[in-house]
Amino acid sequence: MIATSSPTPTLPATLEWRDDSLHLLDQTRLPLHSVSERQGSAEQVWASIRALKVRGAPAIGVAGAYGLCVAMQGSRSGTGAAFRARLLEQAAYLNSARPTAVNLSWALQRLVDHVARSATSDASELYLDLVREAERIHAEDVALCDGIGTHGAPLIHPGCGVLTHCNAGALATTGIGTATAPMYKAHAAGTPFRVFADETRPLLQGARLTAFELQCAGIDVTLITDNMAATIMQSGHVDLVIVGTDRVAANGDFANKIGTLGVAILAKHFGIPLYVACPSSTLDFATPTGAGIVIEEREADEVTGFGTYRSAPHFIATRNPAFDVTPHALVSGFITERGIISAPFADNLSAAFQRSAPSRP
Ligand code: MRU
Repeated sequence: MIATSSPTPTLPATLEWRDDSLHLLDQTRLPLHSVSERQGSAEQVWASIRALKVRGAPAIGVAGAYGLCVAMQGSRSGTGAAFRARLLEQAAYLNSARPTAVNLSWALQRLVDHVARSATSDASELYLDLVREAERIHAEDVALCDGIGTHGAPLIHPGCGVLTHCNAGALATTGIGTATAPMYKAHAAGTPFRVFADETRPLLQGARLTAFELQCAGIDVTLITDNMAATIMQSGHVDLVIVGTDRVAANGDFANKIGTLGVAILAKHFGIPLYVACPSSTLDFATPTGAGIVIEEREADEVTGFGTYRSAPHFIATRNPAFDVTPHALVSGFITERGIISAPFADNLSAAFQRSAPSRP
């Protein structure tokens, strides 16, 4: 079992692979209830990703990788050829759960490629190999978060005010988060600072998850509604913005939770640096600019109310894009596991992470 690296013992693990089973924390029930669910089928994993029980780009990638293992458990006793054929089908199926975070297709494609390279035609060996590669993806995710924390922590000076949007925290990864990793490292080093967490309508990941996990860790966190960010910045309380990302295009345009674009425009207006915490698993060199990023559009009931509470008139027209794309011109730098990448991003991201663009399932 790969140990998920929790920033604090009171925070439940995002996911676990134990006894050949995937267990996912149901994040839709946080912060009031901490319930982990065993995933019995590919359909259940697909539904858990779709319903945001597991969410956040890196966590979706790791959950998708283990989800593919779950999907292949019924094919262990067949032929190697049947195993390989079903693997492609199931990877494509799991990949259809959510379109924007590149980590899902990245992890699934990595498993497909891994099995394609294997010389064995024994299905049970192929299965074991698949699990080992999923575990490597999991272990790497923990290490990527740690690296982002190490490189990002020096940005947080004593007395600093840091604003973040959505949840790019431990709950969105299997490590100490991406945007939160510098915060956890700075806190561990004894640096005093304060975090402003946007609540993040419509699904309140900032209020339910970021405020919860930073509070669990004893970090000074203040929850604000999304429409308060401008005035909090204007009052001089914010020195730094750190957000996560679901996909970074080759030119540095990046997708993140809806509302990030507004935060970035505000930060530019007030002269506040905005950093994007980005593990290499979230880079998409196959997409040249942000215009090519597919944005997930979700159900209307997330906008017309929350849970069982309805706040809008019946039959009202709605829009519900789950993400927006921020142009690279608004980014001060990408905090990666290899250091902080500054402009020109097209050149510097590719120089730091040169790799062939993987094909997608
Ligand atoms: O819809 P969600 O909750 O999956 O959206 C999550 C985000 O937008 C995060 O900021 C992003 O995935 C980065 S997580 C390290």
